[in-house]
Amino acid sequence: MRLKGKVAVITGGASGMGLASVMRFAEEGAQVVVADYNAEAGAATLEKAASAGFGNSISFARTDVANEDDVVAMLDHAVERFGRLDVVFNNAGVGGAIGPLTETSVEDWDYTFDVLAKGVFLGIKHAARVLRQQGSGGSIINTASIAGLSGDGGPLVYSAAKAAVVNLSMSAAVELAPDRIRVNTICPGFIATPLADGGDPERTRVVFAKSQPWPEYGRGDHIAGAALFFASDDSRFVTGEKLIVDGGLTASGPNLSTHFPSTSARDSKFSGVTKGSTGASNQLRKL
Ligand SMILES: NC(=O)c1ccc[n+]([C@@H]2O[C@H](COP(=O)([O-])OP(=O)(O)OC[C@H]3O[C@@H](n4cnc5c(N)ncnc54)[C@H](O)[C@@H]3O)[C@@H](O)[C@H]2O)c1
Repeated sequence: MRLKGKVAVITGGASGMGLASVMRFAEEGAQVVVADYNAEAGAATLEKAASAGFGNSISFARTDVANEDDVVAMLDHAVERFGRLDVVFNNAGVGGAIGPLTETSVEDWDYTFDVLAKGVFLGIKHAARVLRQQGSGGSIINTASIAGLSGDGGPLVYSAAKAAVVNLSMSAAVELAPDRIRVNTICPGFIATPLADGGDPERTRVVFAKSQPWPEYGRGDHIAGAALFFASDDSRFVTGEKLIVDGGLTASGPNLSTHFPSTSARDSKFSGVTKGSTGASNQLRKL
């Protein structure tokens, strides 16, 4: 029971990795407010929680994370219902604007940044206010993406907004550290959730299982495990960190061994050292 006695708010908690985190946090003893735009999915989440035996420890707050009044109300809801606040997981998201740069409207850019970047800003701002007043520290967790760490990792505006989340989290971590409020970021890779599956979950699982070095598709509960670490006291000296949860996708970088099989360590027929253009001979032994 790593979260016993803690109260958490999870935005985007009615689907995908947010929903997986809601269930995991409840299993670990937390009381959880599910904050989501989608009221129907929120009601289904409450039913799911009740049938798993967590009916009394889960509550729903219909929230638009891009709306400051809603974010204030969501945190008030947690304190009113469960008496305190310990963890805020700013996780809600949408794919947002898609298509070429030259075809992207300002309106679609603004919507994307409102949900993904302003939503996280508001979540941090008001979580910090409530946690400071309470005076016993806390943990803020933000969902960014590997899309925010390079070019061509996702739609252009989405990726830019996720890069903003990565940077915002580091600055917030520095500012809030004296109050023992930690701020960390999770950068998921390909995770088979409704956001990413294009309405075809089965096909997505097959494709995602082959999309990174790890031979399984990414699941919501892989992200929930990382969020649990940041939420719990096990990470009490960890702040300003970004944790990549992508089955080795980012680590594989330019994917050299796929493009040049002779450089693959796993399939190599030789071991030893090559000496390039030095004129000295290579020293290789057959495996
Ligand atoms: N699935 C992936 O491969 C992947 C990869 C990297 C990052 N992410 C990020 O992970 C987070 C969770 O995504 P997911 O894959 O679980 O998606 P999901 O669609 O399954 O869940 C997202 C939830 O956020 C809610 N939401 C959307 N806009 C909202 C708003 N304005 N206010 C409140 N709630 C809102 C939705 O209703 C939904 O319940 C998002 O921030 C997403 O950008 C996803």
